[in-house]
Amino acid sequence: MADFTSNFWPWFIGITTIISFIAVLALIRWMTEPGKTDDDPQTMGHTWDGDLAEYNNPLPSWWLKLFYITIFFGIGYLALYPGLGFYQGLLGWTEIKEYESEVATADKQFAPLYDRYQNQELATLATDTEAMKTGSRLFANYCSSCHGSDARGAKGFPNLRDDDWLYGGDPNTIKATILNGRSAAMPPWGAVLGEEGVHNVTQYVISLSGGKADATAASAGGEKYKQLCFACHGVDGKGNQALGAPNLTDKVWLYGGLPTQISKSIATGRNGHMPAHKDFLGEAKVHLLAAYIFSLSNEK
Ligand code: HEC
Ligand code: HEC
Repeated sequence: MADFTSNFWPWFIGITTIISFIAVLALIRWMTEPGKTDDDPQTMGHTWDGDLAEYNNPLPSWWLKLFYITIFFGIGYLALYPGLGFYQGLLGWTEIKEYESEVATADKQFAPLYDRYQNQELATLATDTEAMKTGSRLFANYCSSCHGSDARGAKGFPNLRDDDWLYGGDPNTIKATILNGRSAAMPPWGAVLGEEGVHNVTQYVISLSGGKADATAASAGGEKYKQLCFACHGVDGKGNQALGAPNLTDKVWLYGGLPTQISKSIATGRNGHMPAHKDFLGEAKVHLLAAYIFSLSNEK
């Protein structure tokens, strides 16, 4: 019940449930009032078609017993399980505990499998078709929401199938990325450069990747680049994998290669975040996933 945002709902649910039980019991009592027996039928006071009368007979006893059984079942259920507002139930059952115990059972069942994979070199494991099938299922469950079901990524989420890496594509670097996550820090330059400065640097970045740029603006932008961008993207613009600073000379763009998209990256900065999966998935699954990603980028 901890998920309720106000105290009103637990009280409302608890009280309504108890009142319903009392009301149902009262209704049954009323229907079985002593004095109402089959031998002495009362009519409801209507007659149709001459002598067709509606009798007010008590409910058959087997039917009533069913009612009582369901009521006792309901009371027993509510004593054992959380159903009455704040009351937690005698069994201490919660959805989360049930989920966790299912996960624990599954982990126990599959642990030997993952352990066997974990002892293999990543590059070797990447050639094991059976293991890669499991890897692709893990990817679909845990990674595809961001990187796409085909691992080709989307704007802001890198393509994991190409040979272009922000942080490096050797198996151990991929594994480190998945285990510990990554946070990119591209600072915003709009205030420092001003509108014209952003325009010039944008033209320079376009020229770096061989695109059509305005030569005068690009050369002015090149000067700024040397002062401001050098440290992370490198003298030649080829980037720096230790910082996750992308190569600006290729035609692969994380945030888009249109002049407006490039100038937005420069003016407002970018902060891509890849979440850490160490605690969430455990090292054995991450090991298999790293081999899977490595296999994807080496597919020809
Ligand atoms: C402190 C290091 C750092 C500096 C300095 C820096 N960048 Fe970046 N830049 C990054 C990082 C890291 C990313 C990747 C951001 C992400 O993945 O979210 C990035 C991303 C970009 C992108 C987007 C690339 C793409 O593929 O979409 C462009 C364009 C860019 N930087 C240009 C520049 C320019 C121009 C300058 C100088 C004015 C500059 N950067 C200065 C670290 C830096
Ligand atoms: C919440 C979204 C999200 C999820 C879930 C996610 N990723 Fe990422 N991942 C990202 C982002 C964003 C980046 C880029 C970070 C940056 O801009 O520097 C990234 C980067 C990466 C990289 C580095 C790529 C490179 O070029 O160096 C790898 C490898 C990767 N993710 C693998 C995975 C795997 C495997 C999973 C599943 C276990 C996963 N990711 C789940 C968002 C996500």
